[in-house]
Amino acid sequence: MKTERHTTYDFVSRLNHWIVAAAIIGMLAFGTYIEDFVPSGPGQGALLQIHKAIGVLVLAYGLWRIGWRLARGFPDAVAPMPAWQDLIARVTHWVLIACIILMPVSGMMTSLFGGHDIDMFGLFVIPGFSKNALLSDLAGDMHDTIANVLIVFIILHVAGALKHHVLDRDATLVRMISGRLSR
Ligand code: HEM
Ligand code: HEM
Repeated sequence: MKTERHTTYDFVSRLNHWIVAAAIIGMLAFGTYIEDFVPSGPGQGALLQIHKAIGVLVLAYGLWRIGWRLARGFPDAVAPMPAWQDLIARVTHWVLIACIILMPVSGMMTSLFGGHDIDMFGLFVIPGFSKNALLSDLAGDMHDTIANVLIVFIILHVAGALKHHVLDRDATLVRMISGRLSR
């Protein structure tokens, strides 16, 4: 429950932000590498198993990360900014939050409706559903499309962070790194 108005990001929020950011960017690169640079065959299949298992972990951690954010609320912007910039920042944050869930869920549906199990590093298996090619293809198309949408919004998000840091010279980026409100 949000009990007080926060002005910066607590340690857990900062750790969560950077862990999930690195995981999502890494998974985008990993998925693209597997699909576009590895020839289809057993090698590609083995890499895809790793992609799938890491992706499920990202979903689990991402849900906790989003829960923590919703419980604590978003801090106000460090400095007043034009309403349109505030709107773009807010919309971008919500799109990124949605993608943290939609990317792994669409990937899981591609796999499970394709009748494939998800092997969690040999520890346990999430069993595939009975094969439904239509739903598997639909989920696969979503997985690809959402990845492209996500890349656009990450670029926008990073551009915004750099704009605050370099042009506005405010503490937007600093408070996500150290929590401090001065630079
Ligand atoms: C955590 C976030 C995830 C990200 C950012 C991500 C990203 C990607 C990307 C960029 C591709 C390549 C798409 C292409 O170039 O066609 C891909 C392919 C794939 N991913 Fe993921 N993925 C994630 C999670 C998962 C999960 C959890 C699963 C399944 C359990 C999964 C299953 C697949 C499959 C089966 C493919 C190849 C087939 C297809 O794209 O339709 N992914 N992923
Ligand atoms: C190198 C890449 C990144 C940089 C430099 C960066 C920087 C930042 C900064 C400075 C903020 C604070 C904005 C504010 O206080 O208004 C922020 C917030 C946020 N970022 Fe990133 N970010 C990066 C990557 C990502 C990625 C990949 C995601 C998700 C896929 C993401 C999701 C979020 C979200 C949801 C927020 C809102 C606050 C929160 O819930 O943590 N960021 N980011």
